[in-house]
Amino acid sequence: MAVADPPVPDLADRARACANRLRDADRVLLASHIDADGLTSAAIASSALARAGIDHEVVFEKQLDDEAIAGIAAREYETVLFTDFGSGQLDAIAAREAAGDFVPVIADHHQPADADTEFHLNPLLEGINGASELSGAGASYVLARALEGSGDDNRDLAGLAVVGAVGDMQDSGGGLVGANEAIVADGVAVDVLESRTDLDLYGRQTRPLPKLLEYASDVQIPGISNDEAGAVRFLSDLDLELKTDGDWRRWVDLDAEERRTLVSALMQRAVASGVPADRIEALVGTSYTLVDEEPGTELRDVSEFSTLLNATARYERADVGLAVCLGERDVALAEARSLLRNHRRNLSEGLQWVKNEGVTHETHLQWFDAGSRIRETIVGIVAGMAIGSPAVDRSKPVIAFAEENATELKVSARGSHRLVRQGLDLSVVMGEASRAVGGDGGGHDVAAGATIPRAERDAFLAAADELVGKQLS
Ligand code: C5P
Ligand code: C5P
Ligand code: ZN
Repeated sequence: MAVADPPVPDLADRARACANRLRDADRVLLASHIDADGLTSAAIASSALARAGIDHEVVFEKQLDDEAIAGIAAREYETVLFTDFGSGQLDAIAAREAAGDFVPVIADHHQPADADTEFHLNPLLEGINGASELSGAGASYVLARALEGSGDDNRDLAGLAVVGAVGDMQDSGGGLVGANEAIVADGVAVDVLESRTDLDLYGRQTRPLPKLLEYASDVQIPGISNDEAGAVRFLSDLDLELKTDGDWRRWVDLDAEERRTLVSALMQRAVASGVPADRIEALVGTSYTLVDEEPGTELRDVSEFSTLLNATARYERADVGLAVCLGERDVALAEARSLLRNHRRNLSEGLQWVKNEGVTHETHLQWFDAGSRIRETIVGIVAGMAIGSPAVDRSKPVIAFAEENATELKVSARGSHRLVRQGLDLSVVMGEASRAVGGDGGGHDVAAGATIPRAERDAFLAAADELVGKQLS
């Protein structure tokens, strides 16, 4: 069999160096982040290590702070593979390496801290965008491809890499671009993935049609969005069979002709209601389907799959999400589904709370402090959902606070690609403003986070407001 080309040629040298280092290790500690991208990163790396016959153990961390790094060092593994984090903490990791604690191998896509290490695979080091072109799972996939051993070329892992990229919202322009496209092509080539132009609403596999329309949050259509009766009325006016045996049909149950009928009626309604043209275009995008998964389940559509994973790892059940990624379908999937119900309720209550309370405006940003009302592990997701809602002004970044513990606040910041094009870099804002008040932070230009002392919220806001103002001037 011919060896397939490396999926991202610019990263091939780094991937090969990392893979060789891992092959030389007796055993590896694999550490990853607790979100959909981190879980899929771990699943990809763990599968590739297992296939290459490399003994390893997997641990998850909420944040790779000094305490977490110390805990990892205490495990006394000679080699530690960090996926979906590590670059942002490179200073602390390089210090551990220099002290002889462990040799780090990093597959990440976050903004690197000011330090370097030999085995470092990150798209940003080769001019590839880490917020929109390659995720942590994508970097792990590039590594897995370089690790190919015993006849596996690991291209079947491309599906998980796409779940990770979509979980990090890298398809927010309507589809995946750049290096991610090469991974999609791999998945399609080995028949694990299908990509097609489709209605771009969340819940195509599992939501009953009225809920699919009612809950669509990215595109607001008057009389349908957030309006259950309106959504039912709109559907009833179409020439469509809406129920089977008394149950609402889902998008996945419609045939091609029925789907066209629904999309064109939805667009006509949007035009007639004065929805802006760019929002109407956003109704259609690229869908990515995992063809080996059961139709009508959360696993079939990568976007629903990623929500299922967030529902596990962000509630201290990364073990459940990892098991699902690795193919377990009985107990783990049932448990993940029950966690998903809880996650959905928390998101909807959190978003409702933000809508009720509103945000506070500074000159260049807007913010809300959810205290203990929104769990700190999901406050960033709520902030991202709020940005798409009328409660929030799209022309400024939003900063969200939630209680992390008795002494610290968690900060999550979300912007838009339009603001990034105007100069916004939230990873710099979160990093500099947090360090100015004795905290730490980082992330991506369009989405970043930090942890700060509780008493420093207002000082932090003032620093962040000034930084955003400078970036956008
Ligand atoms: O930790 P990490 O890189 O995995 O998380 C990225 C975060 O950035 C996710 O929470 C994702 O939702 C957010 N993001 C966003 N908008 C984008 C890209 C990423 O909100 N366009
Ligand atoms: O937690 P949240 O979803 O808001 O994180 C957004 C991005 O910022 C993620 O990529 C996360 O890894 C990063 N982040 C960070 N340092 C922190 C908090 C978040 O680099 N202290
Ligand atoms: Zn990530």
